[in-house]
Amino acid sequence: MRQFQVRKDNFTEGRLVDSGADNAASKIAANEILLKIDRFGFSANNVTYAAAGDMLGYWQFFPPYGDNAQGWGMTPVWGFADVIESNVSEIPVGDRLFGYFPPATHLKIVPINISAQRLVDGAEHRSKLPPGYNLYRRVNAEPGYDRAMDNVRMLLWPLYVTSFCIWDALQDKAWYGAKQLVIVSASSKTGIGLACALSADKSSPDVVALTSSRNLDFVNALGLYDSSFSYDDLTGIDSTMPTALIDMSGNREMLARLGKHLGNNMKFCINVGLTHWDERGKPDGVMAERSEFFFAPGHIQKRMKDWGPDGFTRKTTAFMQQAFVQSREWLKLKNVDGLSGLSEIYPDVCAGRIDADRGLVVEM
Ligand SMILES: NC(=O)c1ccc[n+]([C@@H]2O[C@H](COP(=O)([O-])OP(=O)(O)OC[C@H]3O[C@@H](n4cnc5c(N)ncnc54)[C@H](OP(=O)(O)O)[C@@H]3O)[C@@H](O)[C@H]2O)c1
Repeated sequence: MRQFQVRKDNFTEGRLVDSGADNAASKIAANEILLKIDRFGFSANNVTYAAAGDMLGYWQFFPPYGDNAQGWGMTPVWGFADVIESNVSEIPVGDRLFGYFPPATHLKIVPINISAQRLVDGAEHRSKLPPGYNLYRRVNAEPGYDRAMDNVRMLLWPLYVTSFCIWDALQDKAWYGAKQLVIVSASSKTGIGLACALSADKSSPDVVALTSSRNLDFVNALGLYDSSFSYDDLTGIDSTMPTALIDMSGNREMLARLGKHLGNNMKFCINVGLTHWDERGKPDGVMAERSEFFFAPGHIQKRMKDWGPDGFTRKTTAFMQQAFVQSREWLKLKNVDGLSGLSEIYPDVCAGRIDADRGLVVEM
């Protein structure tokens, strides 16, 4: 059994740790099942989990083992795993789960709230964490479950469900009175998913992409944005129109420049991500007064209450189906060979050296 861990105080540094006998399969408790992790996706989102590890509690999901374990943590990933041992009668060996995992070969969980479609990990250390992250889908029970879609689903679903929620929240707020929306770090998958939702919505204001100059051609080729600008040329954005920003970057200096350019027409900024985690910082002035952190699990919980879990699944599934089809036009999957492959490519993900059209698939 093996884990890929990162230093909590300097998450760009990683290490591979092989476990001792205390994590052996034979040690599962009476209420536990043992999962063998089969595959997972990896993107800037997983780096952000590490960057926000202390602030949002991401280190608490999957405690690491090994020397000086308290100084290290595991950044969660989305993927698929198979049940290889079970002490829980409702969950047979061979069941396959989609959900939140550590970058590790195995995970023990305590299934509760079990239904044919889903279960929840009831482990004590996860009980106070956002419920959406503790839920696992039992995919063998899904009508039409197609293993061939696993890679795209694990890479895009967690990001596109956020895109869907941002679109829903923007619509709910009547676009904050904006006549144009600027998506910052527009080449990110979460940004592309949002552009996809907005381009299918006739009532949406114009959608402007803001990205680095190296990703400008890629963003233009997507055909989802009405116009696009690089960070260096952001003063080209029409500042006479009321504007809302949806920021995946967290880049303080660039957002301050954008805020200054838009002046009082900067109506609201939704802070979603930290792709530029090494340029992050607290905004000030109008940018601070008119901005809000967006947390997808919170919005999902709210909509599950409003629409019911089935209503939520119905609406998001309809969006995913069209957005996954659209992704065929640009997404190139890149296989990464297990945890050792991940440890090799991890510094490139942290430094933003992965091409925007790549989807990293870690195959165990
Ligand atoms: N709040 C929430 O609930 C929530 C939920 C889901 C995702 N998110 C966040 O949304 C963000 C996007 O995630 P993703 O997985 O969709 O990203 P991704 O597809 O991996 O994004 C890649 C893009 O991010 C930028 N980038 C990445 N690393 C960089 C670096 N070190 N320096 C500069 N630019 C870098 C580049 O875009 P540009 O050149 O266009 O800047 C790059 O093309 C993440 O911060 C993620 O945590 C938040």
